Amino acid sequence: MTPDLTAPEGLQAALDLAVKAAREAGRIQQEYVNRPHTIQTKSSFSDLVTEVDGLCEAAIRALIAEQYPDHAVLGEEEGEGGQAGAEYRWVVDPLDGTVNYAHGFPFYCVSIALERRGAAEPAGADTGAERLLGVVYDATRDELFTATHSGAALLNGRPVRVSDTPTLRAPALLSTGFPYDPGDSRNLGLLGRLLAMGVPVRRPGAAALDLCYVACGRLDGYWELGLKPWDSAAGALIVRQAGGRVTDAQGEERPDGPVIVASNGHLHPELLQVLDAGQVGEAHP
Ligand code: IPD
Ligand code: CA
Ligand code: CA
Repeated sequence: MTPDLTAPEGLQAALDLAVKAAREAGRIQQEYVNRPHTIQTKSSFSDLVTEVDGLCEAAIRALIAEQYPDHAVLGEEEGEGGQAGAEYRWVVDPLDGTVNYAHGFPFYCVSIALERRGAAEPAGADTGAERLLGVVYDATRDELFTATHSGAALLNGRPVRVSDTPTLRAPALLSTGFPYDPGDSRNLGLLGRLLAMGVPVRRPGAAALDLCYVACGRLDGYWELGLKPWDSAAGALIVRQAGGRVTDAQGEERPDGPVIVASNGHLHPELLQVLDAGQVGEAHP
């Protein structure tokens, strides 16, 4: 039977496992990065998956199953697995930034989160779960971002904090991302507004790292429409534990929705206002 992972000892054991699994996935990524890849497309011509995505997810699942056979796992490549409806669920993006990875562009990572579902919550539901820990590992820089729900956000073991940039024109440095569906152009207008104001905006290409960069102050804010739970599960907790905010389009604290607005907190109201994100809605029509 699973120990109580909300208690300090249990939580530390789960965090140690997440770090071990993330480092193993990162090791696989670096072992294969300069080899030719088997590349397939998923939802569109630009939505790529390589053999390394699958290898990483299999390795992470095997390590979780060994230590916590009664847990559920939601992974991008294999979907829901493990014990359906279990109290604890791991949320895994085995390789975030696959398009970058497939091109040898060194901005990608692995993202692993653990959540505890409320007793009253039906199996498979995505809302209302409490995030217990998040780990994001960038093997290209050997940078490990971690956080637990009760502790500070750490980068390679040292506490990190969000920036104190007060306004967009300070100036802030922002990032964003775009969905694979070429028909979903909602973000172009939002991006245009910020660029027209002269605010520097980047598109690095790995959502989990965008969030961690907000957490450690390299970015002041980040937004994206159309994310999946595995993109933001770990990074959103890391931002929150670093003192930042992660909300939906309406400014509600909601770290797992498809619309994510993350910031250092200071410029959050201004960012939401400029994005006018409430107009965007949740789903792409
Ligand atoms: C993608 C990346 C990208 C973001 C996309 C994600 P993947 O994840 O995080 O930066 O813009 O929305 O789907 O497919 O590389 O795991
Ligand atoms: Ca992803
Ligand atoms: Ca992925």
